[in-house]
Amino acid sequence: MKINRTYNITVLTLFPEMFPGSLGYSLAAKARENRVWDLQTVNIRDFADDNYGTVDDVPYGGGPGMILKPEVLGRAFDANIPGKDWDKIVLTPRGKPLTQNRIKKISTKKGLLIVCGRYEGLDERFVKSRSLEEISIGDYVLTGGEIPAMVLVEAISRLVPGVLGDPESVVEESFTDGLLEYPQYTRPRDYQGFKVPEILISG
Ligand code: ADE
Repeated sequence: MKINRTYNITVLTLFPEMFPGSLGYSLAAKARENRVWDLQTVNIRDFADDNYGTVDDVPYGGGPGMILKPEVLGRAFDANIPGKDWDKIVLTPRGKPLTQNRIKKISTKKGLLIVCGRYEGLDERFVKSRSLEEISIGDYVLTGGEIPAMVLVEAISRLVPGVLGDPESVVEESFTDGLLEYPQYTRPRDYQGFKVPEILISG
């Protein structure tokens, strides 16, 4: 398959061994083998500056849990500076809700840097100083940003030209959007007394 370029993704995480996870299967995996997109993980803990590998600290103002330290995150980021045309996203339940429209825009860029939050959060000054966009995959709280990162990459990877085997895949997507609106059927016409709607058979 001929492709023009590889869509590059860098994931900063405390659990690099969780990747590629679900991205190692199906269409996403095949596209990665074909270098339509590629993923590299960076272990945030490698950027701790003490012998214990400390990455977090107690929050100012009190409260439960630990906060990822800005210096550690900053060093991890600065050692993996994203390209000019890359999106820079941190996954957090406090972020803006992810939509198919946002995913379409992200998929047209050259690459993406993702920071996976952990514990109770990360220091706000890291987010601001590196101009990261905060995104949430839904109004619920997970333990960390790794599964949200896989959700984001999976949704992006199927829109990157070459994944659906067609350079027009993003255009096609506007057509397939319609599929969300109607239930789908295949054979047989009668399944345990439940019938395929007549209009789909006659049409
Ligand atoms: N990390 C924890 N919960 C999350 C969510 N809902 N979306 C994105 N990142 C998260």
